[in-house]
Amino acid sequence: MTLVHETDYGTPAKDGPATVSLEVDGLKVAVPEGTSVMRAAALAGIDVPKLCATDSLEPFGSCRLCLVEIDGRRGTPASCTTPVADGMVVRTQTPKVAKLRENVMELYISDHPLDCLTCSANGDCELQDMAGAVGLRQVRYGYEGANHLDSVKDQSNPYFDFDPAKCIACSRCVRACDEVQGTFALTIEGRGFDSKVSPGAGESFMDSECVSCGACVQACPTATLQEKSVIQLGMPSRSVVTTCAYCGVGCSFKAELRGDELVRMVPHKDGGANEGHSCVKGRFAFGYATHPDRVLSPMVRDKITDPWREVSWDEAIGTVARRMLEIRAEHGAEAIGAITSSRCTNEEVYVVQKMVRAAFGSNNVDTCARVCHSPTGYGLKQTFGESAGTQDFRSVDKADVIMVIGANPTDGHPVFGSRMKQRLRQGAKLIVVDPRRIDLVRSPRIEAEYHLPLRPGTNVAIVNAMAHVVAAEGLFDADFVAARCEGFEEWVEFISRPENSPEAVEPITGVPAEQVRAAARLYATAGNGAIYYGLGVTEHSQGSTMVMGMANLAMACGNIGRDGVGVNPLRGQNNVQGSCDMGSFPHELPGYRHISDDAVRQVFEKLWGTTLFPDPGLRIPNMFDAAIEGTFRGLFVHGEDIAQSDPNVQHVLAALSSMDLVVVQDLFLNETAQFAHVFLPGASFLEKDGTFTNAERRINRVRAVMKPKSGMDEWDIVCQIATAMGYPMQYDHPSQIMDEIASVTPTFAGVSFERLDQLGSIQWPCDENAPEGTPIMHVEDFTRGKGRFMPTPFVPTDERSTRRFPLILTTGRILSQYNVGAQTRRTANVAWHREDVLEIHPHDAEDRGITDGDEVTLASRVGETRLRAQISDRMPTGVVYTTFHYPGTGANVVTTENSDWATNCPEYKVTAVQVALAHPMALHAESGEANAFASELVD
Ligand code: SF4
Ligand code: SF4
Ligand code: SF4
Ligand code: FES
Repeated sequence: MTLVHETDYGTPAKDGPATVSLEVDGLKVAVPEGTSVMRAAALAGIDVPKLCATDSLEPFGSCRLCLVEIDGRRGTPASCTTPVADGMVVRTQTPKVAKLRENVMELYISDHPLDCLTCSANGDCELQDMAGAVGLRQVRYGYEGANHLDSVKDQSNPYFDFDPAKCIACSRCVRACDEVQGTFALTIEGRGFDSKVSPGAGESFMDSECVSCGACVQACPTATLQEKSVIQLGMPSRSVVTTCAYCGVGCSFKAELRGDELVRMVPHKDGGANEGHSCVKGRFAFGYATHPDRVLSPMVRDKITDPWREVSWDEAIGTVARRMLEIRAEHGAEAIGAITSSRCTNEEVYVVQKMVRAAFGSNNVDTCARVCHSPTGYGLKQTFGESAGTQDFRSVDKADVIMVIGANPTDGHPVFGSRMKQRLRQGAKLIVVDPRRIDLVRSPRIEAEYHLPLRPGTNVAIVNAMAHVVAAEGLFDADFVAARCEGFEEWVEFISRPENSPEAVEPITGVPAEQVRAAARLYATAGNGAIYYGLGVTEHSQGSTMVMGMANLAMACGNIGRDGVGVNPLRGQNNVQGSCDMGSFPHELPGYRHISDDAVRQVFEKLWGTTLFPDPGLRIPNMFDAAIEGTFRGLFVHGEDIAQSDPNVQHVLAALSSMDLVVVQDLFLNETAQFAHVFLPGASFLEKDGTFTNAERRINRVRAVMKPKSGMDEWDIVCQIATAMGYPMQYDHPSQIMDEIASVTPTFAGVSFERLDQLGSIQWPCDENAPEGTPIMHVEDFTRGKGRFMPTPFVPTDERSTRRFPLILTTGRILSQYNVGAQTRRTANVAWHREDVLEIHPHDAEDRGITDGDEVTLASRVGETRLRAQISDRMPTGVVYTTFHYPGTGANVVTTENSDWATNCPEYKVTAVQVALAHPMALHAESGEANAFASELVD
């Protein structure tokens, strides 16, 4: 595919019908009210020269290149800032405007290095293009006068350079940072000739507030802000549209290549989830895909203490099949199973669960979503009837009040976080429910109306208290409830009990009752109320209860079934939604249909030509327990690092080391691979063809940019293992796997690669009633018919602070790193975050004699680790916080096995701990916990 150049219409689109008709250079065009003359001209196929305008930003009117003449109007107005009017007659090319434009260009060029032939932007420079467009043939002012040509480059950012000598002071970068990203890191300093772009007061980009999202680089019309990769490798010559493999936002990118070398990832304007925006991970952190640490040959060994032996694919696949069959013959099908990965494509996840059910002969398949969003699936299914978020991301543009619970969108879901901030700057109100003062609480031009800094583990008490206020003060939407819901009377009786009042729960949550009352009133009465939540909701012993509590609150206030409302899980990994949709739970077949349902099972039995067991298989924690007991002996781990990501690492390692066969498929020899007998090299997202489904149920295409470096597609490896075990599985292309999924999964009935290529993306359900998908769910009816109110009594977690462990640890993510860090640690993103630190309130630190940067021990009843302290008043007293991106820190060494009552999702967010100054010793042994454990076994 050649390089895709999207049309730039100069100014943003306006909503509404095309009711305004005008004539541009003799061509008739009709556009919505408020559209600029520039955009109308572009829609008529006429490009007006421009430099300061681009359609991702509001018009600014500074460069004066886009002047036009309009019949009946004096002068030469700027087409970017002039709105259309009915009957307008516009002329974009007249001798007068041509002269004016040429003058403007002369001024720009007289203060611009004339090194076009050696410039990194040669061929992709709007200044160069405009010089051609206006027919510039001479520069009368010469180049000897005052200029900026000697300005010093800022090369501090690992991914892009800033060369002020090439800057034309168009402000596009500043406006991109303000309007799109919402970081406000850049300013134009000085006036007139002295105007210059500055990242903070004389700071470098790296020292500024910049979060390296790349929006300014994208917006810059010259080589002033330029990707280092383009400077080094040259301009790309072709592009492939694909999907980011990091978080659940699911941003679309153009992977731009030169030959077969990836030069840069450019956010795709037509991407349904991101609409042209990006974050530092998707935009820049792709270097891990070609990192030398990648293992490209299959390897086997008899014992985990043996050295690895490189083997052919045939031998590796044969070994897996043979040893799985041996275990099955000796211990039964219940003794083998697999864990699927939310990083993999839908097609890969589907074939893994099919392999387990049809070839292994058990239902022992679980997904890493078990440890993050399984309560979402359960809670939303119970109340709404569908295990997925209710809205598309665009919906937030219509929200009047946004409640963010247990999520940190600016770090965890940055592109959606920026969109949310745009809406907040437009005036939507914000409620944040989180122990920690996340960035959203107060950031440039945003201030939360209410921040409820609850004690970890008391979410349900807070949501019940808010609902209590809604019920007691009659703030509920009686019409909505009467028409659309069931169980309301019983729920009101429950929620109105005195123990659910804000005053009663204040001693439990630590949040003043008045604040809870005020927040509840705001959510219930401000118009469209939207709830967004993350793992701070689900990773609790009452995760599922909390999801139902939020659903109750939304239904009571009528905040379901239209734009601007809803209950929206912000999914962690790129394909958490998809891995759940694909039936990789031990109790559910694709489409969330219970394995015990005879009719459903028969559909799959007929298609797969096999008999399926009606009883659910083992969940991940049950697999570990059974492994230690000796009844579960063979595990296929597809693209997950369970030795690092699952709670109570010691227990996980004990389980892994008890098994006869551990097969790991991954890009790198991760911590889990220390315990593997067979290692199967995986493919990076750049090498895959398939689909990911993001947090808004949007199925996006993933397209291979290059061939698998290991020589094998992951879906094909799985099929070959199944075949070698005696169950033939064969597809020619992942599109055939999607066709099979669509044939047996009603919510995917209308999905195919062909349809995805036509529409760009599809939000399921997609069937004959919704052939283009469903952006907003439960519009007329809930999926289950009536929305169901569920009782949600608050039950305190067993994990309490004690004299021995007086603090509560909670965990989260940081923007630059991702999950267990296997990818981002192998990129220049380490420049922002080299280690996990423990955030601790100044008082708690002082009590322990800890100062900023000290090495501390973090101990819980299950384990102990060491890391550096960061004194932070973002934390309330009594609560400490860390991330889990580095194996050396091993945050999960201390997390316990407490879990959600309904789904076993671990209670990562509440661990009673003690923190103390560490005795001096090397911080972060070179290898992680698994390494240490493995060497113990060797010793
Ligand atoms: S990279 Fe993003 S955050 Fe940094 S200055 Fe540019 S727009 Fe702002
Ligand atoms: S850096 Fe680029 S976008 Fe920013 S003012 Fe200069 S030319 Fe314009
Ligand atoms: S927001 Fe998420 S999906 Fe988008 S670029 Fe960043 S990591 Fe990738
Ligand atoms: S593009 Fe209109 S003034 Fe610059």
